[in-house]
Amino acid sequence: TSNKMWGGRFAAGPDAIMEAINASIGFDKRMAAQDIAGSRAHAAMLAATGIITDSDAEAIREGLLTILSEIEGGTFEFSTALEDIHMNVEARLKEVIGEPAGRLHTGRSRNDQVATDFKLWVRDQLDAFEGGLVALIQALLGQAEAGADWVMPGFTHLQTAQPVTWGHHMMAYVEMLGRDLSRVRDARARMNESPLGAAALAGTSFPIDREMTAQALGFDRPAANSLDAVADRDFALEFLSCASICAMHLSRFAEELVIWSSAQFRFVTLSDRFSTGSSIMPQKKNPDAAELIRAKVGRIFGANTALMLVMKGLPLTYSKDMQEDKEQVFDAADNLMIALAAMEGMVRDMTGNRAELAAAAGSGFSTATDLADWLVRVLGLPFRDAHHITGTLVGMAEKQGCDLPDLTLAQMQSVHADINESVFDVLGVENSVNSRMSYGGTAPAQVRAQIERWKGLLA
Ligand code: ARG
Repeated sequence: TSNKMWGGRFAAGPDAIMEAINASIGFDKRMAAQDIAGSRAHAAMLAATGIITDSDAEAIREGLLTILSEIEGGTFEFSTALEDIHMNVEARLKEVIGEPAGRLHTGRSRNDQVATDFKLWVRDQLDAFEGGLVALIQALLGQAEAGADWVMPGFTHLQTAQPVTWGHHMMAYVEMLGRDLSRVRDARARMNESPLGAAALAGTSFPIDREMTAQALGFDRPAANSLDAVADRDFALEFLSCASICAMHLSRFAEELVIWSSAQFRFVTLSDRFSTGSSIMPQKKNPDAAELIRAKVGRIFGANTALMLVMKGLPLTYSKDMQEDKEQVFDAADNLMIALAAMEGMVRDMTGNRAELAAAAGSGFSTATDLADWLVRVLGLPFRDAHHITGTLVGMAEKQGCDLPDLTLAQMQSVHADINESVFDVLGVENSVNSRMSYGGTAPAQVRAQIERWKGLLA
């Protein structure tokens, strides 16, 4: 016939440009294993319901296994003329087993087939995403445990704000990634309904058993509306939005590592294994992995936007527009996974520079809030007055080029006569962090409690 796939209706084959714009095999071959799993489940169900014979189902099963090993072995010849992974596998099945191959597509359409394959693929990615998050959280817990009481500056506006602990800072990312984890688990639970058996859009007149195929493929249940089942790409969008938010988190941490590893900060030393050199400047050790992770959110959120715009305004049910879903998701998934793995490696390998962190923690008048709180607590001043007095003392120290604890008692008393020696107790950074015992605060005891809570959650 003049057309490899639907010669019955067509007298002429497609223009080369038509074939080029239409073919998805170049990328959807990544779903080969899912396509074969879906077809095996479908064929087994067709036999169990008496729609095809057991011997045809057995031939199909064996043929599909042969094809799977050809694909895994790299000997399978993909054809652009056959458009996509579904037609490529089916055409090869015909070559391998002959006539029974033509019975596989009974009660099925490429519309429910592609939705099923893609869901299975995205579901695998959600599982990998979860694994990557857990591994990174564990690496952060290791850092938090090692430095639960290391003092460092906490920032707002990237200006020194109050002393915090290294462990507390690490645990902030554990919380963020923990929300990512819960989003991934939610998305996985919600998406786990089988589109298979929705057929083209309306269901089928064959007595199929959708429960059976759903179960065989690890779905919780069949999707309840055939129109929705073939038109839905929410699962891909949810994956991309979970991935975007996580990539944004990774980007923020990456930015901190870039700053912290600079000669000006020296808060952290990245390992050689996760750094690069310069071809001209011999002294350089660049945080390239962190920079690339910082950038990944661009393409991942780009994919989210792209797919949202592909889906927007599409009438029910399937339209070919939807073939544009896969490359976005594939690219986002690949980049998310490498970013998670690289971040995990960097975090495991990095060394927090305790002395540099402590020195920075005490600079920039970081205990000014402790001083103001002392004026309230010990002298009974209203907080606004205490704020003003402390501001005056900071100005005085700044003029002298010293830090708050370097001011003499006499100098302090010149601003407020009732200030006494005990004020110096609260100007030290250790005391400052130890005092922040409110739930979720930076005190090492609080940080250790949170580390234990997370260990319990992950166990
Ligand atoms: N390659 C197509 C896709 O990725 C498969 C579904 C084709 N269905 C159809 N009715 N043309 O979306």
